Amino acid sequence: MEEKKTYYISTPIYYPSDNLHIGHSYTTVAADAEARYRRLRGYDVMFLTGTDEHGLKIQQKAEKKGVTPKAYVDEIVSNIKELWKIMDISNDKFIRTTDDYHVAAVQKIFKQLYDQGDIYKSEYEGHYCTPCESFWTETQLKDGKCPDCGREVQLAKEESYFFRLSKYQDRLIEYLESHPDFIQPATRKNEMINNFLKPGLEDLCVSRTTFDWGIPVTFDDKHVVYVWVDALSNYISALGYGSDDDSLYKKFWPCDVHLVGKEIVRFHTIIWPAILMALDLPLPKQIFGHGWLVINGGKMSKSVGNVVDPVVLVNKYGSDAIRYFLLREVPFGSDGEFTNEALINRINTDLANDLGNLVSRTVAMELKYFDGVMPEEREDTELEAEIKAQFEALTPAVEDYLDKLLFPNALTEIWKCVSRLNKYIDETAPWVLAKDETKKARLASVMYTLLEGIRNIAILIEPFMPQTPAKIFAQIGVKAGLPETSWDSTKTWGGYKAGTLCVKGDVIFPRIDVEKELKELEANAPKKSQPVCDNKDGANVITIDDFAKVELRVAKVLTAEKVEGADKLLKMTLSLGDAGERQVVSGIAKFYSPDDMIGKKVVLVSNLKPATLRGIESQGMILAAADKKNLVLVTIDGDIPEGTKIS
Ligand code: MSP
Repeated sequence: MEEKKTYYISTPIYYPSDNLHIGHSYTTVAADAEARYRRLRGYDVMFLTGTDEHGLKIQQKAEKKGVTPKAYVDEIVSNIKELWKIMDISNDKFIRTTDDYHVAAVQKIFKQLYDQGDIYKSEYEGHYCTPCESFWTETQLKDGKCPDCGREVQLAKEESYFFRLSKYQDRLIEYLESHPDFIQPATRKNEMINNFLKPGLEDLCVSRTTFDWGIPVTFDDKHVVYVWVDALSNYISALGYGSDDDSLYKKFWPCDVHLVGKEIVRFHTIIWPAILMALDLPLPKQIFGHGWLVINGGKMSKSVGNVVDPVVLVNKYGSDAIRYFLLREVPFGSDGEFTNEALINRINTDLANDLGNLVSRTVAMELKYFDGVMPEEREDTELEAEIKAQFEALTPAVEDYLDKLLFPNALTEIWKCVSRLNKYIDETAPWVLAKDETKKARLASVMYTLLEGIRNIAILIEPFMPQTPAKIFAQIGVKAGLPETSWDSTKTWGGYKAGTLCVKGDVIFPRIDVEKELKELEANAPKKSQPVCDNKDGANVITIDDFAKVELRVAKVLTAEKVEGADKLLKMTLSLGDAGERQVVSGIAKFYSPDDMIGKKVVLVSNLKPATLRGIESQGMILAAADKKNLVLVTIDGDIPEGTKIS
């Protein structure tokens, strides 16, 4: 038996963020459409996505929450997986950089590169922010200060391992120049060569000693692997590279395309190929750098407060409509503005008016004129021949665009045919033909052309809108899974059979009341610098019952000591009076010494599930107010016994 062709597509692995916005789903939806398209074309597909879970920021956030980094990321990752589920993302594999097999593969890769001299030990020199425990380069500083907290930085040195990136500079230039399709769109290739490769590459710092939430370097336990060697290796570790079973690696590597946002093209087209060259492995066939979804000209980001929640949009309009908008609105590769108005207009115009009406009008006419059953006898004219020719040219055009990841172009071609059929209804006026008994065969021909066209369209939109085809098939009476719904059946006109029965169904895309919806969406949108407590209409509001689930108690600090090796943590014993004692670990050591704490009355969340921090169990969390610079404990204003409930 002939072996299926393989196709491997990946998204970047996502930072675990507790609110992924619609911009994040852009890469994943696009990769999903391509993966679905390739499956329909008969490829054996590997579609990979996942999460990038290590690093100082995660460690700090977890400490602030009083949980372990792993517990912190576990919860977020399950939300991310849930989001992909509601957006109908059909990934074949989900990799987490905390997965054991990934950790083992990265350790092996790091050791091999070290043993062969591609990684060496030296000193990293940079601007160090002590409270943030972060090194910054000159260009990263904001007005000469730490870009995260705004405080003074000092020049400092840290022992680090380095990857000999500079050694690969000439080979990389040569590779990029001799493989014009390696970076797409092509403009990004020139940017890489002229702005980064030609000015000269510096060796890359690939380990850190100032935090420990990372993959340990096996031969030097002070160090954890830092960022890119960990993150980029996911593309091969997910396939079992370096493990006992590397059959998927053998089957799918090299990757057909890494689909990434434009800001990480550099890492994928310079650092990743250099690592692969050092490992003597084949390079991915292509890196495609898409543009950003922007709001008011700026990239969506939580700190700017302009994020749009995909869950809200999917719940309101359905995943197919959102996917359609993302893949249709913006030329793939360029930046594009997201507005609620543009989204609703697309849904109303393209989906409700053009496609939705075409299906409902056609099915209604077929039911009215032929009791829903397609007659055998038909009478075609030049007009039908023209439409047939247009449809027969459609699939090759769509394939050509999708082979190049040009999603909006493919959809534009499909919608030209949707419009053509709508115009054809007006041209042929079936309601006039229906009045004349002698025109039955002519009327049948018109209905056939419409239904056959709709059948083709329903198949071709499947990569973009996986739920809609089944709804259309049900109304036009064809069965999913049969040859007449296969991708290849769109290549020859005539798959719709005489005798097929149409069935009345629900409206596929209901029209949206623009004014009303815009008001609702705007009420939900997070506003910059809006106080959280003012969020009466937003998703942030909880009921008194929700609040009642949290048990808060007055607690008195009996003992307090620093946690060895973690300069932010204090370990304390708290008294709850008759309710006993609790051991709590808290990230307040930079602001309170053990002596400051002993004897203080604090507020304890006393029914929090225990968590382990640095191997120490923390049985609750004490409350504090914190911004980037300060942290102040919530205390009790007056004398009241410890253990008292707070409500
Ligand atoms: N963890 C790194 C990637 C490591 S890959 C070895 C990362 N993660 S991310 O969560 O910040 O981004 C994931 C993807 O979301 C990227 O492709 C990024 O470009 C995309 N987007 C995030 N915001 C976006 C928009 N506003 N618009 C379009 N895509 C954007 O980078």
